[in-house]
Amino acid sequence: MHQDIEKVLIDEEVIKKRLDVLAEKVMADFEGESMVVVALLKGAVLFMADLLRRVPLSMEIECLNVASYHGGTESSGVVSFLDHTLPDVAGRHVLILDDILDTGRTLDAVMEKLKQQGAAEVKTCVLLAKDIPREEVMAADYTGFVIGDEFVVGYGLDYRGRYRNLPYVGILKQSVIG
Ligand code: XMP
Repeated sequence: MHQDIEKVLIDEEVIKKRLDVLAEKVMADFEGESMVVVALLKGAVLFMADLLRRVPLSMEIECLNVASYHGGTESSGVVSFLDHTLPDVAGRHVLILDDILDTGRTLDAVMEKLKQQGAAEVKTCVLLAKDIPREEVMAADYTGFVIGDEFVVGYGLDYRGRYRNLPYVGILKQSVIG
């Protein structure tokens, strides 16, 4: 698997240190609230596990299955909700976790859905945000790292379903993408 990686962009140790900082911010903002974390499958799984272990608050954890990339390297532009039911967030303080903010459509769509379900507050937290003009698209409330506008894999992010289990964020060799 490692041989398919052109470059490691953010290594494991750097990610862990940044998670300590994000966790402190989340703690400060959600302390004393009725908290629900909604992690977006499947990309946020590693991020969720490592971040939430650092947040010793009382919380419920839910996962939501959404898709916008459909396995390739370009966003389809359409956000699909793949679950039949949504988590019960009425009156709760929600933190949405996602792996990466690209166009912002995914987080925007999930945020709207959870507000419609009656959430008292919805905040967003992403490991990565692509450095693209954000006048029209939303920014997250908490961002781990800002990266260039390039396709990345690892630490939850995939290419055609693979590479999610890499402990770092990296760029694939062009020969792998084909
Ligand atoms: P939007 O455009 O809605 O996209 O902000 C967010 C979702 O798109 C996926 N995404 C990526 N997945 N490498 C990936 O493996 C990338 O560079 C990348 N950029 C966006 C991801 O699923 C995210 O939740």
